[in-house]
Amino acid sequence: MAYNTILVETQKEIGIIRLNRPDAMNALNTEMVKEMGQALDKFEDNKKIKAIVLTGNERAFAAGADIKEMQDKTYMEAYLEDFITKGWEHISKIRKPIVAAVSGYALGGGCEVAMMCDVILADETAMFGQPEITLGIIPGAGGTQRLTRIVGKYKAMDMILTGRMMDAKEAHHVGLVSRIVVNKASLVEQAIKTARKIGRMSLPTILMAKECINQAYEMSLSAGIRYERRMFQSTFATRDQKEGMKAFVEKRRPTFKNQ
Ligand code: HXC
Repeated sequence: MAYNTILVETQKEIGIIRLNRPDAMNALNTEMVKEMGQALDKFEDNKKIKAIVLTGNERAFAAGADIKEMQDKTYMEAYLEDFITKGWEHISKIRKPIVAAVSGYALGGGCEVAMMCDVILADETAMFGQPEITLGIIPGAGGTQRLTRIVGKYKAMDMILTGRMMDAKEAHHVGLVSRIVVNKASLVEQAIKTARKIGRMSLPTILMAKECINQAYEMSLSAGIRYERRMFQSTFATRDQKEGMKAFVEKRRPTFKNQ
């Protein structure tokens, strides 16, 4: 399938999506969000794909929603078309794990897309922020909610009310970044390596783990623990649990069949 705003490739069991509007700092316009959704769906449906890497270019992961596209929108248009809901929320519904590789700016909607991913790797040039307030709007794709849950009220307030950016070091320090990759050239390589490591595990078990972690943001602790317990128990119904434990006892690497 030919895309205009993203580059898509597969490397064995890993699907890779590169946001590709370099002249606009990868600003997320309607077409890009739609194409990203289509590519994610294809990877989700492709049985060979075990994990996905989402990245941008050296200057920007994505500098936010496309300001030029939305500047003249009226309230009625935004409301009636349920602006940004469709494509954007789609990303967070993908069940397979997504590793974000962030170089340069991840701002506004770009930061929100990164926060919809499951692992965030960043190089030292990465800058995160929710600068919407400087445009007279507020974050609209989960920024006030996800960022607050990740970094806490006071960092979120500081970021969202002032619009200031966080560099990679600070973002790592507050838990917005899983890991900083020191060698910029190898950021995507490291993301693929991480995705590959995840991809070697049992896919159903990975899906269960991801689902449980995401439930931690939706439920009370006791309900979440009960949810986890049931999922944990259900892993004993998989062949991969038998294989994983047998392999440990036999001192060899497991060969998971994703069953
Ligand atoms: C449209 C954008 C853009 C954006 C950059 N560009 N960000 N176009 N939407 N979000 C364009 C610029 O207009 C410019 O195009 C080109 O990309 C290069 O950008 P420069 O500003 O010249 O680069 P630089 O000086 O290096 O500054 C980089 C930057 C700055 C710090 C990232 O571009 C910036 O502040 N961008 C906006 C960031 C932002 O406010 N994001 C939040 C958007 S609102 P031309 O044609 O002039 O060369 C949002 C709301 C989300 O995300 C709501 C739910 C999704």
